Amino acid sequence: MSSLNKKFPRLLPTPITSGIKASDLIDGAFKAYNGGRLAEACRLFTQKMLAQDGTVGLSLTGALTPAGLGRAALVPLLKAGFVDWIISTGANLYHDLHYGLGMELFAGSPFLDDVVLRKDGVIRIYDVLFDYDVLLDTDAFVRQVIQGKEFQKTMSTDEFHYLLGKYVHERELQLGIKETSVLSAAYQHGVPVFTSSPGDSSIGMNVAAMSLRSSKLQFDVNRDVNQTAAIVYDAKSSGKTSSVFILGGGSPKNFMLQTEPQIQEVMGISERGHDYFLQCTDARPDTGGLSGATPAEAVSWGKIDPDTLPDCVVCYADSTITLPLLTAYALDRVAPRPLKRLYDRRDAMLETIRKQYLKHGTVEKIGHRTDLAKEKKGRSGRSVVGASRKKESTKEAAAGSRAGKAKR
Ligand SMILES: NC(=O)c1ccc[n+]([C@@H]2O[C@H](COP(=O)([O-])OP(=O)(O)OC[C@H]3O[C@@H](n4cnc5c(N)ncnc54)[C@H](O)[C@@H]3O)[C@@H](O)[C@H]2O)c1
Repeated sequence: MSSLNKKFPRLLPTPITSGIKASDLIDGAFKAYNGGRLAEACRLFTQKMLAQDGTVGLSLTGALTPAGLGRAALVPLLKAGFVDWIISTGANLYHDLHYGLGMELFAGSPFLDDVVLRKDGVIRIYDVLFDYDVLLDTDAFVRQVIQGKEFQKTMSTDEFHYLLGKYVHERELQLGIKETSVLSAAYQHGVPVFTSSPGDSSIGMNVAAMSLRSSKLQFDVNRDVNQTAAIVYDAKSSGKTSSVFILGGGSPKNFMLQTEPQIQEVMGISERGHDYFLQCTDARPDTGGLSGATPAEAVSWGKIDPDTLPDCVVCYADSTITLPLLTAYALDRVAPRPLKRLYDRRDAMLETIRKQYLKHGTVEKIGHRTDLAKEKKGRSGRSVVGASRKKESTKEAAAGSRAGKAKR
């Protein structure tokens, strides 16, 4: 008789019954492969990332808002205080505007004739369809709003999205609609929203065109880099956890993770990495691209704390499936949290990290981090590498192949 029963839970799913809740379905029947990873992701999110007022950053890529996931899942997560800050592609924020402005998108088919669609003035994102006018009207909204006085300056993208969100919220009120838009919800709940590539979307395209007129609006990407690091430092220096919830990959994934090397490697401030990493993606790890890079690889960059690596989860599945399930699970299992309203504290957080940087940072090469090993030895009497390897193998034993897969 092997000792399997001592190391692993028995694989014995609960039979599915009529009317079962999503959370019970996940706990009872999502037992292996990416179903198993999704169940682990749900538990990581609810039991560790959201616990003890931990700070949760969400990165968004893929065409999620066109598919309606802003209204269906992201707004409920923001309302519940389950997402404290966001890095998104411009595209997700641009297409979010359609919903906030009361425009219509349609559940179509991926098997239509695109030449005919083009003739008919119909835009297609896989099976999502909408009129070309939706683009033209949304573009006009952006151009008209950014003509306002408050936009005539250089600003970071969180400030830009906050101001834009205010106008989307006003439009929602005029139209008598609510809880339709991520930008509006983020404005109302004080959730900072950044984009890692401000020029790479129709929002950026309209801002660029207006700069050829008299618009003074420019993006302060340096502040974005420092402000995002300040959010993470604020969590870690106050003894809370910092977690990353990554949908897809792309540039927003790196922009969120690079906050830790910005703190440690560039600013010279002592830190150990994000605590928890949850990614839902279709990107493979073996191409060397960042989208598919595993949490283990992120450890080597100082992006993730080696001690919590065994808790990290990568679920290889489409976000249009994982996000609604994760949202339903979290809303069922965790009570709403008080809003952190990080946007309201942006200047104070930036000032704190600025002071730390001026204290520890140098223009010359920053010294190697020898204190990590010492720190760890002091706590456990083991070296960092030894300790994390031990932990990894323990977790692998307990959870099967998930951690192993993430490490390969
Ligand atoms: N009109 C617009 O504003 C517009 C439209 C489309 C794209 N863009 C821009 O193009 C850039 C690329 O954006 P993108 O979001 O399409 O990124 P992308 O296609 O580069 O995807 C990023 C990563 O996420 C993964 N991914 C994508 N969809 C997924 C899903 N449903 N489930 C799981 N994983 C998924 C991909 O495999 C990839 O690894 C962005 O900068 C965006 O702003 C702009």
